[in-house]
Amino acid sequence: FQPKLLKNRKILITAGPTFEAIDAVRGITNLSSGKMGYAVARAAIEAGAEVTLISGPSCITPPSSAKLISVTSAQEMLNAVNDAVEGMDIFISVAAVSDYYVLNPSEQKIKKDAHILTLELAPNPDIVANVVNLPNAPFCVGFAAESENLYEFAEMKRRRKNLPLLAANLVQDALGSDESELVLFDDEGTHPLPLAPKITLARQLIEHIAKLYIPSSQE
Ligand code: C5P
Repeated sequence: FQPKLLKNRKILITAGPTFEAIDAVRGITNLSSGKMGYAVARAAIEAGAEVTLISGPSCITPPSSAKLISVTSAQEMLNAVNDAVEGMDIFISVAAVSDYYVLNPSEQKIKKDAHILTLELAPNPDIVANVVNLPNAPFCVGFAAESENLYEFAEMKRRRKNLPLLAANLVQDALGSDESELVLFDDEGTHPLPLAPKITLARQLIEHIAKLYIPSSQE
C-alpha cells in the first residue's frame, strides 16, 4: 500500500446507519455497524487525506484524526453534508441512510393498546445524489448493499445516481462482520475485491479512488 496517494486531499465520508424517530424511545434504522465507513476513513487518513467523518449512531471508535460529526436522522446527515461539502475533493457515501422517515413522530412514548398502529412514512432525500448535482461537486463514490443480483442492481444504481465509482457488497456477507467482499463498478467495468478484512478492502478502494480522481486544477 502506497501511503500518501491522497496527500492533503479533503475527503468527506458518511458512515453508519441513520435513525428515524417514531417516538421518544423508538425508531426506524438500518443494520449497519459503521465498520466499513470507519475503515474507509482510516484508509483515507493513512493515504494522507484530511478526513471529515459524518456518522450516524455507531458503537465503534472512529479514527482519532478524523473530524467527527455525529448525526442521528437522514435529514441531519444531509444538513451536515451540505455544511461540510464545500472545498471537499472527494465524497465517499458509505452510510446506510434510511429510505423513509416517520411523518409525525410522537414526542412522548406511544402507549400500546388493542388497535393497529399505522405509521406514515415519507421518503428521505438522497444525500449522495444531492452532492453529485452540486455545481462544484467533489469526486463522488457510492456504496450499495444488495441481497441479490449484485452486479445488475449495483451497476443500475451507479448509473441512476450518476456516480463515477460505486462499491457494492452482498448484505449477507458484510453486515456487522469484520470481513467482506466488495465489487467496484466504474466506467471501465467491474473490479472484484476478494474476501478480506474491511480495512484491507478500504485500502484497496482508496487506491482505486486515487487512480480515478483527477484534481479539478488539472482537468
Ligand atoms: O439507493 P441506495 O440506498 O441503495 O444507495 C446507496 C448509496 O446511496 C450509498 O452510497 C448511500 O450512502 C447513498 N444514499 C444516500 N442518501 C439516501 C440513500 C442512499 O446518500 N437517502
